[in-house]
Amino acid sequence: MILIADFGSQTTHLIGRRLRQLGVENEYIDPENILEEIKKHNPNGVILSGGPSSVYDDGAPDIDEKLFNIGLPILGICYGWQLMARKLGGIVESAHKEYGPRTIFYPNNFFNFSKNSHIVFMSHGDSVTKLPKGFKVIGSTKQVQNAAVVNKKSNFLGVQFHPEVDHTERGQEIIQYFVHNFCKEKVVNFELSPDEIIQQIKIKVENKKVICAVSGGVDSTVSAFLIGKAIGRNLLPVYVESGFMRPNTKELVTHIFTDLIKADLIVVDARKRFSVALKGVTDPEKKRKIIGKLYVDIFQEEAKSFKNLNKHEEIAFLGQGTIYSDVIESKGSKKSSKIKSHHNVGGLPKNMKLKLLEPVRNYYKDEVREIGRLVGLPEEIVMQQPFPGPGYAIRIRGEVTPKRLEQVKIADQIVVDEIKAADLYGKVFQCFAVMTGAFSTAVKGDARAFAEVVAVRAFESKDVMTSQWADIPYKILQKISSRIVNEVPDASRVVYDITTKPPATMEWE
Ligand code: XMP
Repeated sequence: MILIADFGSQTTHLIGRRLRQLGVENEYIDPENILEEIKKHNPNGVILSGGPSSVYDDGAPDIDEKLFNIGLPILGICYGWQLMARKLGGIVESAHKEYGPRTIFYPNNFFNFSKNSHIVFMSHGDSVTKLPKGFKVIGSTKQVQNAAVVNKKSNFLGVQFHPEVDHTERGQEIIQYFVHNFCKEKVVNFELSPDEIIQQIKIKVENKKVICAVSGGVDSTVSAFLIGKAIGRNLLPVYVESGFMRPNTKELVTHIFTDLIKADLIVVDARKRFSVALKGVTDPEKKRKIIGKLYVDIFQEEAKSFKNLNKHEEIAFLGQGTIYSDVIESKGSKKSSKIKSHHNVGGLPKNMKLKLLEPVRNYYKDEVREIGRLVGLPEEIVMQQPFPGPGYAIRIRGEVTPKRLEQVKIADQIVVDEIKAADLYGKVFQCFAVMTGAFSTAVKGDARAFAEVVAVRAFESKDVMTSQWADIPYKILQKISSRIVNEVPDASRVVYDITTKPPATMEWE
């Protein structure tokens, strides 16, 4: 097994996923207790994750330097590498910040790749500018000389980039190299097991009832499907119409839960409550918290009215389609930063009466899709583009007014229609329009207009943790732009968002 010391990176949990894919047991640990954890688990290697701190910050997470003398192979990633370098006598400086894709050159082809340059994803402020004794450079970017380093005698590997993210080319092979060649772990193929998840739900829920939040999206549908397989008619799916969802969502949810899952769907029309609750609210985090709380209030009300109607039979759990990326962005580990409060995690009120049941909480989007396939959900459901629970409300920068809501819906439909017409809808991970809250001057029909800038975003991703903006042909972008300025009454211009994640998140709020 391998221990992962978690310094709070957004992608620490992906390291575990990569090890799981190689069939290697792993455990996340607090770096403060590293020596005790090593004694307890007797691992074959240690991975030091990245993290949001600088090694020079007051209170930056530290590690006992005895770790480097016990003879265990160590892989340091980003902050983990910087800390390792500093502890072993190297120098770390605040220089050459890099966020997003960079080209790395492996001059002596240490990993035996078929070519010696690849794209890697970076997200760092500091760099190691002087190597500790015994280390040699095996990869450099234009700005960072010590981007990949090795100390073969000690079996130490250090990388400034993130090999665990999907957008780093050959990243998994670097992890495999460490695991296989340094840690001497046997590498096997891992398969997802929906049966195991269903079994766990049965054990947790017993014969109690579960109210399940459904939106027609991949995560909540797969979760409800797994819960349904485990507890049958004790599953009560509830769809809350907030007014912020895509057109035809109610019809899609009804089809899924009556035709495919054969459960008694409850539909709650809460459009008025959502629009009143968001009146005058402009702060993105406030919006997300209000939406999260309102959803839970409604689910709790539904649970209560079920109890009144059904001779005091109680609902014990709230089922949700939370996935790991929702958790980590909402501050999912002790040392990680909060990026945004996903409505189903960071937006939950503290005094919730229902217990949470989240069968796919430890999985990523592409794994959830695969689990959905394995339990028999049709391809058009599992391959749908994701749509956030707070819906259009977080695609309107600033206050959600009825007028702006109407406009974002028109703009969004144009983006979707044109991308579909170009046969690109299934090829991008998500595509949508954003009311940016920025205003600019336009001339419409010879008259001055001072109106809102609409942004179009389209990108590729697998697991939501990283993304590349999609290379949509100019001709299609031109058509989208022209339709938006013509058909959305208050749009003055259209911009295409060409930012990777990191640093930009996928949604604007
Ligand atoms: P970000 O903007 O965090 O988005 O890079 C990552 C993925 O999550 C979706 N998203 C959400 N989904 N509740 C959800 O159910 C939320 O509060 C939420 N915020 C973002 C987003 O559409 C993307 O697929």
